[in-house]
Amino acid sequence: MGSPAIAILGTGAYAPAKILTNEDLAKQVDTSDEWIFTRTGIRERRIAGADETTSSMAAAAARVAMADAGITAADIDLIIVATVTPDLPMPSTACFVQNHLGVPVSAACFDLNAACSGFIYALDTAWAMLGSGRYRHALVIGAEKLSSVVDWTDRTTCVLFGDGAGAVVLGPAKGTAQILGARLYAEGTHTNLLCIGGGGSNVPNPSANPEGPQRHITMKGREIFKIAVREMEEAARDILKQHGLEADRIACVIPHQANLRIIDAISQYLNLPADRFFVNLDRYGNTSAASIPLALDEARRSGRIKAGDTTLLVAFGAGLTYGSALVRW
Ligand SMILES: CC(C)(COP(=O)(O)OP(=O)(O)OC[C@H]1O[C@@H](n2cnc3c(N)ncnc32)[C@H](O)[C@@H]1OP(=O)(O)O)[C@@H](O)C(=O)NCCC(=O)NCCS
Repeated sequence: MGSPAIAILGTGAYAPAKILTNEDLAKQVDTSDEWIFTRTGIRERRIAGADETTSSMAAAAARVAMADAGITAADIDLIIVATVTPDLPMPSTACFVQNHLGVPVSAACFDLNAACSGFIYALDTAWAMLGSGRYRHALVIGAEKLSSVVDWTDRTTCVLFGDGAGAVVLGPAKGTAQILGARLYAEGTHTNLLCIGGGGSNVPNPSANPEGPQRHITMKGREIFKIAVREMEEAARDILKQHGLEADRIACVIPHQANLRIIDAISQYLNLPADRFFVNLDRYGNTSAASIPLALDEARRSGRIKAGDTTLLVAFGAGLTYGSALVRW
């Protein structure tokens, strides 16, 4: 007997109410709406309130996804939270989410760090765990409070990122939204290109070195840009080939929402029209692990994804990590 077919039974998203526009940022650092928009496609991003955490946003998105799936917290036996901005280094954000939602103690709950590819990594992990038959319903969440690790004096990074969360419920397929495949990659030779310094064991303990590295994002943007295009194209081509699909069979691509120019380049390399790519980064910026589930939920609810469509998810992120997944709705 083969593995049971697994599907996305529901999707949900949460974005904090506070909007930070490019004009707002231009009052804080030496930048402009024109520079940010032409280089990235971003107009504004959401910023979590002081009382909001990665886990509270994750739980909010998860509640919407569970309602969409028609299941309750009692049905969940696995929670994976993909994040680079956990509430705390320990315990896991997934345990906070479990507590917010009242998911039973019999559930396995853990975090996963694959940066902006985190949601696809978590999706593949949950798919494999459900496929084993030992778990029935999983919450797969991407959630970030990147405003807590952005250096708000660094114009080369602070204009790019935003906060938010997206979630899906995975469970036994009933004929729709089946996961067809996923592929994961990592290129650890490029760990230096995008980092959050501080807060890890490879830096001096802050109690011994209060002047040590700050817990801030640092990035070599130009290098990442080039590699990201190559990696996303490879991840897309590999999975299409594996499933014997021509690119034009993909009705909707949900790419990681980092930069419109990266998305446009992939559209050209795959010879797929730009209108097949769902884009909401103009309103949210780069929300790292939250970006794909946030876009996926919006694409579904807006009717951009229709029954029978084959959707390609494709991401890249720090690590560098990258990956792709196929879902037939
Ligand atoms: C970050 C990124 C938008 C920068 O665009 P770019 O065209 O590569 O620009 P550069 O970094 O070469 O900088 C060009 C100039 O703009 C300046 N600049 C950088 N940020 C600026 C800002 N926010 N406003 C105004 N000027 C800015 C630079 O200082 C530089 O000035 P100089 O020529 O006088 O030195 C782009 O490289 C990018 O998107 N890279 C990928 C990053 C990414 O996706 N990261 C997330 C991975 S998940």
